[in-house]
Order: sequence, then C-alpha cells, then structure tokens
Amino acid sequence: MKYLLLVTVIVMAFVPLSQSVSDRQCGNDTNFIWLDIVLVIDNSPTMISDNVYESISSIFGPNSQIGTGYTDPRSSRVAIVTYNNYATTVADFRTIKSLKQLKTQLTALDQAGNSGNQSYLDQGLISAQSILTKFDDRENYKKVVLIFTSSFDFIDSRPDRLAETMKSNGVTVITVNTGKDKTVEKQLEGVASAGFAFKMSTNTTETLQNALTTSMSIVQLFSIISSDNCHCLDYWTWTQYKHFGVCMLNPGVKGTHQAAHKYCRGLGIPGNLATEFNEEKRKFNYKFLNNNIDGTTVSSYYNGLTSENGTWYWDQPKGKPMIPLDPSSGSISTTSGCVADIKYSDGSISWTPISCSNSFNFLCEAVACDTDNYCDSS
Ligand SMILES: *[C@@H]1O[C@H](CO)[C@@H](O)[C@H](O)[C@H]1NC(C)=O
Ligand SMILES: *[C@@H]1O[C@H](CO)[C@@H](O)[C@H](O)[C@H]1NC(C)=O
Ligand SMILES: *[C@@H]1O[C@H](CO)[C@@H](O)[C@H](O)[C@H]1NC(C)=O
Ligand SMILES: *[C@@H]1O[C@H](CO)[C@@H](O)[C@H](O)[C@H]1NC(C)=O
Repeated sequence: MKYLLLVTVIVMAFVPLSQSVSDRQCGNDTNFIWLDIVLVIDNSPTMISDNVYESISSIFGPNSQIGTGYTDPRSSRVAIVTYNNYATTVADFRTIKSLKQLKTQLTALDQAGNSGNQSYLDQGLISAQSILTKFDDRENYKKVVLIFTSSFDFIDSRPDRLAETMKSNGVTVITVNTGKDKTVEKQLEGVASAGFAFKMSTNTTETLQNALTTSMSIVQLFSIISSDNCHCLDYWTWTQYKHFGVCMLNPGVKGTHQAAHKYCRGLGIPGNLATEFNEEKRKFNYKFLNNNIDGTTVSSYYNGLTSENGTWYWDQPKGKPMIPLDPSSGSISTTSGCVADIKYSDGSISWTPISCSNSFNFLCEAVACDTDNYCDSS
C-alpha cells in the first residue's frame, strides 16, 4: 500500500508561536472527490422534493473528474438508479464519462418527472447492490449509496436489511429524507450508516425560502460527501481521529523511543509517532491504546515529542519539517532526552521525562485519504 501525496499538505511548521497548532482537517476540495457513488432516487409521485437533481449536480466542483481514465486518479464514478414500482438503472459505472454528461443526465431526469404509483425502496437498493457487485474493481475507492426519498415503502425485502448487507461490506449508505414525516425519518435512520441520515426539507409554498433551503442543502450535501471521502484506507488497522484528516495505528508492541520512531516511519506510508496537540487528542490516544480485547492496560507510552537542539518538536513523516511544540499544547520541564505519556494514580496523564532506553508502547499517525491525499491500495 502506498500513499500518493498529490497535493502537498501544508505542514504548519513555521506558524508564529501565538497561533496554536491544530490537527489536520480533512481535504474538502469539491474538484477532487474520488468515490464510487450510486445515486438511488425515488421518482414516484410520493416523492416530495423537487430540487434533488439540482442539489446532486452541485455536489461536484466545476473541474470534477467523473468517470475513469484520467491522469489524476482522483475521479468519481456515478451510477444512477431511479425507482417507483420497480427500479431502473439509468446509468451504471461505465455510462457517465464526464461532469457534463452527469449534469445532462440529471437535468433529463428532472424534466422527466414522476412515474409509477408506488415507491419501493427495496427495488432501488437491489439494483444499487447489483451495480456494486458487477463493478468491483477500484477497490481503494470508497463506495457510497446515496438515497433520496420521502418514503420507506417496500414490496419484497426490508430496506434496512438490504442496507445492512451493504454496510457490512464497507459501503457507506447515506439517506436524504426529502419529506417531513417523522416515522419515515426514523426508518431511514435504520437504513443509513451511523450519522449519515439527513433531511432535505423543501418549502414549496414559499419560493424565496425554498431557494434558501436549496442552497443550504447543497452545502450540507457536499460536506457529507467530502467527510465520507475522508477515511483511513485499511479501516481494520487504522482508525480515524474523530472527523479529522488523521489516522491512528496501534502496533501493539513496545520499543525504545528510537525503535518506536523507526517503526512508524517504516510502515510503507508516510507515518510518524503520534502527536498530541491538545488535551482532546491526548485523551483519544490514551483511550485508543487501552481499547484492547484482552483487557490489558497501557499506562505509559511514547508520543511524537522529540527534543532537538534544546527545543521540543512533534515528529512528522520523513522529509517533512517537525512541528515545534506550541506552549498551548503543554510544557515539559526538561529540554532534552525523552518524554512519555504516563498515567498517574490520580487519573491524570502527563508528559514525564524518562530515559529514552525505556521500552514503551506507542501509536503511529498518518494523513487520511481524502480529496488532497489519494491513497492507492496496490
Ligand atoms: C474546507 O476546509 C477549509 C480548511 O479546513 C475550511 O476553512 C472550509 O470551511 C471547508 N469548506 C467546506 C465547504 O467545508
Ligand atoms: C398502479 O399501476 C399499475 C400499472 O402500472 C396498475 O396495474 C395498478 O392498478 C395501479 N395501482 C393503483 C393503486 O393505482
Ligand atoms: C414555509 O416557510 C414559511 C416561512 O418560514 C413558514 O411560515 C411556512 O409554515 C412554511 N410552510 C411549510 C409547508 O412548511
Ligand atoms: C539542530 O541543529 C543542527 C545543527 O545546527 C541543524 O542541522 C538542525 O537542522 C537543527 N534541527 C532543527 C530541528 O532545527
């Protein structure tokens, strides 16, 4: 596995001391979304919203690469399934080859209006699944099923069960409830991946207000998509730090400070010993290290603090300048040697000067895969 840094992440190595250092935000350039997305759109007469197509169109930046075969691998394949009494595959992953084509297709669907007299979500999901099954190349591209509906009706299979199968295969299922029914809202929550059930309300009586809700939902929709495009490639080994563009790994081994440093740099991807810019991250790291199946506790561990020329720095991947320790992150009573996070009997965890030859656990850190950072699994 290799991480290909296409756009150099600006490491805040020379920030003035007054400005505190913060964790890396997920890249969110709309022009560089790289996902495989299946749109599942209810086009039955029960469908409430009339600006779904317009909203979808606006997710992608003007220079987005839709389809495959581009020099820059950050492209999205977009398939479209509409459904009413039954589902129609309007486009599979091969059909749409450019942003222009996608927009034309969405406009055509918008103009075609409603069909049928039922809304069977299971039919839409079954078609989405068959597209995902048929086009199983592009392994390293996250799969997303994005559903727009205002109903939970089905004819053969429960939509939540169908979605469960997708989710267990690593697919993110996003629902956008275009209606106002609270029961449907709850039901769609059971279909969506955790935290991915959304509402898109339209107020058809008041056009001005309507325009406002439209633009709001576009922004929201985009942030949903870009947050999903920010992930750790090997999600079974790497864990994302909250919603930041940072991934954490617990090697589960002990080593001297030097050995730990070497380990994190030898992962085959640009890695470093874990940072702890603030209390929140410190707590996260402690919890992550202690989240062991066998119940073992880790109360002392190395972080990325490194002393050089009498100054403390945070370790960074090879070739990148280290980040000076910001006083707002904490302070250390010595200027040389090594420190470790040590948990004391009163529950506090503090950076404690120790000998570098101690063997401790440690965590590694790497940049997440997102619109700024394409990750290739090959
Ligand atoms: C994108 O990220 C930048 C920097 O983190 C942030 O300031 C901006 O608000 C984000 N934009 C969106 C649309 O989320
Ligand atoms: C729904 O449409 C089908 C044909 O597409 C028709 O046979 C059926 O009677 C209709 N049902 C209702 C309730 O209108
Ligand atoms: C539409 O918006 C207006 C203004 O916010 C509100 O008074 C009205 O109740 C809304 N109508 C519906 C159907 O939600
Ligand atoms: C520490 O000092 C050496 C020698 O002056 C220099 O080469 C090195 O870049 C310095 N390290 C940092 C992190 O500034």
